[in-house]
Amino acid sequence: MNSTIILKGNILYTPRPSEFVAIQQGYVIAVDGVVVHCGESIPPAYGEHPITDYGDHLIIPGFVDTHAHAPQYCNRGLGMDKELLPWLETYTFPEEAKFSDKEYARLVYGAFVHDLWRNGTTRSILFGTIHKDSTLVLMELLQKAGLSAYVGKVNMDRNSPEFLIEDTHQSLADTKEWLEASAQFGPLVKPIITPRFVPSCTSELMSGLGNLAQAYNVPVQSHLSENHGEIDWVAALLPEAANYTDVYYEHHLMGKVPTVMAHCIHLSDVEMDRMAETQTMVSHCPYSNVNLSSGIAPIRKLFERKIPIGLGSDISGGHIVSMAKVLTEAIGLSKMKWVEVDQMYAPLTLSEAFYMATKGGGKFFGKVGSFEKGCELDALVIDDTTLFDPNERSLEERLERWLYVGDDRHIVERYVAGKVAPEPTN
Ligand code: GUN
Ligand code: FE
Repeated sequence: MNSTIILKGNILYTPRPSEFVAIQQGYVIAVDGVVVHCGESIPPAYGEHPITDYGDHLIIPGFVDTHAHAPQYCNRGLGMDKELLPWLETYTFPEEAKFSDKEYARLVYGAFVHDLWRNGTTRSILFGTIHKDSTLVLMELLQKAGLSAYVGKVNMDRNSPEFLIEDTHQSLADTKEWLEASAQFGPLVKPIITPRFVPSCTSELMSGLGNLAQAYNVPVQSHLSENHGEIDWVAALLPEAANYTDVYYEHHLMGKVPTVMAHCIHLSDVEMDRMAETQTMVSHCPYSNVNLSSGIAPIRKLFERKIPIGLGSDISGGHIVSMAKVLTEAIGLSKMKWVEVDQMYAPLTLSEAFYMATKGGGKFFGKVGSFEKGCELDALVIDDTTLFDPNERSLEERLERWLYVGDDRHIVERYVAGKVAPEPTN
């Protein structure tokens, strides 16, 4: 059955990184969840349909979080005194071990999914834990909330504590079982193959996961080049490998199916070439990179090399769920790179950062994150009237202010693939 919706309001989106399209009192029209028109008036063919009029509110694409760890939700804002490897050992692994308990998982994942909803993150790419049943609980809760996500059961079979490690064969068998069980969800909630990172995975496991990704036509996510200690460790574990990136490439975890790699801070030029050639997406996680003293990713350089880039909260390396705040932090960090490191790295503009938080990351889901024809309609309706300012402002200025100083209290409606997502009840 055809379902047509027409939203009216002040529309803003970024078809390209370099510019906002801003339409005062415009219309976005979707049929069966897909945008058919966005402009200043309603084409005659849609003249009979009811209009949902949001008055002077802003209407923007929903946010895309390309990297977050749902099971680390209760650690957000804690344990920020260490770098990556001791942070994982001290805080992260003990918390993730608790997800062997499905009831604990339901409790925490329910709160996390609610927070995604609250902050207008309509799409996300998530790590679960090694536990398949808890990972299915996360998928169930996302589906119930009407949010879209790729969710991964994590794999780790070496260099991990005895309370959070798998046997290689069991890990692959569990992954297969979980992939098959995931078919009950969809089309909005889908599985993604998730080797934690090279130090936690044997070559045998990575090859098996590369095969599963291809056999089931499922994308891949992992971590890459986040921290110097991690990079040195990978080089010591696999002395024959050309570089960290090529470990994933050689195991068919890049270049065969769509892949997103979190961080990518310290890549060499040849690694960037590989990322570009395979069109592997970088998930840039600015809060996490600051909190764990990981470094400042060379986003301008990655951008110029035509590597796809999305933004990630990296809960709980990052402490903020809101992608509005993640995108403003990405801008801030890019300014520090420019002024402190290299004048070649022009800071990110607002439209570039907004693009990454919407259409940039949205590419992983298909046509998502924009109001251009053919895109799935994910939208947030923002009432910014309580952000006091008696001056006349442009739509871009109003959006900029909301991104910097607004919050979830100003989001009055969320749409995912053309449907309103009401507040989740669990
Ligand atoms: N590398 C391997 N595991 C993790 C994790 O949980 N968080 C971050 N930020 N990096 C990782
Ligand atoms: Fe991470």
